[in-house]
Amino acid sequence: MREVDRMTKRGKFIIIDGLDGCGKGTQMKLLEEKLLVFSNVILTREPGGTLYAEEIRSLILKGSAKDTSALTQFFLFLAARSDHMEKKVIPALLAGTHVISDRGDSSTWAFQIYGGKNMTLRERFLETRKWVLGDYEPELYIVLDMDPETAFERTRNDTVRERTHFDNQAVDFHARVRAGFLEFSKLFPVRIIDASRSKEEIHEDIFKAVQEAFGK
Ligand code: TYD
Repeated sequence: MREVDRMTKRGKFIIIDGLDGCGKGTQMKLLEEKLLVFSNVILTREPGGTLYAEEIRSLILKGSAKDTSALTQFFLFLAARSDHMEKKVIPALLAGTHVISDRGDSSTWAFQIYGGKNMTLRERFLETRKWVLGDYEPELYIVLDMDPETAFERTRNDTVRERTHFDNQAVDFHARVRAGFLEFSKLFPVRIIDASRSKEEIHEDIFKAVQEAFGK
């Protein structure tokens, strides 16, 4: 390894996550504007973020996927994540670039395992997580937390949003997803942010958490 490579400090990996309708899209935009002055940060998303993972994303979100089992979805999300890690996240981190991803493995835990009532997948999740993330586990997860009924109402009234089969799940699915995120926070470095407040307050908390993580 060249001396100059050894000296490059690895970037930080941050995932921003939450229920559908929690205001994550708005917050990602606010964050993106704030980060324009930083040359060493990229924003990405899951499922997707690379050419091939975006193709898997369209398979996952298309209408015909609504009847697939949580197990099938689990594998598709994992395949998309693996490509995203290999082709985009890991090379960026190694080049010293910070990576902020709109969703990540925390969503698989919350949606496929808790939302989809597949608790037996928990062990599989933990094993495969190690495999896919390797030495590149996120330093921080930021979870935007709010009452699932309110989040559900928001997605129902959002005329701009392209609805997916996940949005069309009943409110108790979203309540389980929220419980999943809270359980996830017991296992991994999660900062829970109250997303029922004004978008400015939420943004301030997110930006603070991101800056802290960058500085570590
Ligand atoms: P998207 O339209 O991007 O939703 P949002 O704007 O709320 O992020 O669709 C992504 C959907 O995929 C979202 O409903 C969450 C779901 N998802 C999972 O179920 N498991 C996962 O591992 C990931 C990354 C996303």
